[in-house]
Amino acid sequence: MHTKFWCLDINKEIAPQLKEAAECIRKGELVAFPTETVYGLGANGLDAEACKRIFAAKGRPADNPLILHIASPEEIMPLTSGLNANAKRLMECFWPGPMTLVVPRSSLVSDVVTAGLDTVAVRCPDHAVAAELIRQAGVPIAAPSANKSGRPSPTMASDVAEDMDGIIAGIIDGGECRVGLESTIIDTTSVIPTILRPGGITREMLEEVLGAVELDKGLVEEGVTPKAPGMKYRHYAPKAEMYIVEGDASGSLRMAEMAAAAGKKVALLGEKRLRPLQADMLFFPWENVDELANKFYDYLRECDRQGAELIISQGISDTELGLAVMNRMRKAAGKNIYKYFDGKLSLVSGKEAGFVVK
Ligand code: TXA
Ligand code: MG
Repeated sequence: MHTKFWCLDINKEIAPQLKEAAECIRKGELVAFPTETVYGLGANGLDAEACKRIFAAKGRPADNPLILHIASPEEIMPLTSGLNANAKRLMECFWPGPMTLVVPRSSLVSDVVTAGLDTVAVRCPDHAVAAELIRQAGVPIAAPSANKSGRPSPTMASDVAEDMDGIIAGIIDGGECRVGLESTIIDTTSVIPTILRPGGITREMLEEVLGAVELDKGLVEEGVTPKAPGMKYRHYAPKAEMYIVEGDASGSLRMAEMAAAAGKKVALLGEKRLRPLQADMLFFPWENVDELANKFYDYLRECDRQGAELIISQGISDTELGLAVMNRMRKAAGKNIYKYFDGKLSLVSGKEAGFVVK
């Protein structure tokens, strides 16, 4: 299949530039588009056959439901059998924005979208291109992240092309995504609203509005199945073996130096001030948690492109946006975690690294 590229000119009116892409969606074809979180792989959310094409293009298991994207908050109404007070409050406070609500589904929503669940996930993205595309398509757009299953989510159009060129009808290039991590998913149907996937709308922000909020046990406890079916997969994994180093900030640099000394091609993800002295070590720096969230997936893809054999990543605290970042980082590392304390590296979980000198 020939994949069309629409490179948007932001200095010109957006609407006419999206006409052809919206037409593709209406015809049941797949179009990747930018949102403020990551790029989505969109299809007509009311057309079950079109939604099936999403699963085929991504290689996505059929038991992993899709998010329906709407252009303005009130468009949720036909998709749900009813909203409780918590859901209404969250919509008022955080839509449009990087938050997905799990609500009771209506009969308009197909089993292909919900994977047979009695709830549906809905999001109103805070992105002019996404909103205009949905408006012109005239239907909710079902869209998972526009990566092949198991690859990092795409945060720019070139990432989408890496995974989807030749497989989908088109890609809308609307520049880099602002947040860089997928939306917060919150289940509003439980007695205490529950975060199923941490994201740009943080637990602290949700608690300020709702009071108590729970974190799905499946995200933090071994052996508990996550409530969001997609969260049980390893996802976001780079080709290289990856380790997280918690504790003293310089631990990641220390561990990367040991790996380099053992002859590995190493990539270090860490605070800017850790800059390694070895010129051949790949270094992916960040200054603060926002920048780390924004660049994390791009850095993982870049590690693959540059053939890193080993990725050492500095861990950060699980508060605010750090919760979302660490959730993705732990998945990418397959839970390989070391701790650096008092000048010593010790294994917390996962696989012992042969190159660590005790
Ligand atoms: O930021 C985002 O949310 C991006 C952009 C494109 O909007 N989309 C995204 O979609 O991350 P995806 O398909 O990669 O992740 C959707 C997650 C999956 O983990 C899925 O299992 C979960 O949402 N999900 C969907 N419907 C659900 C439901 N009814 N109940 C629980 N989890 C649900
Ligand atoms: Mg995804």
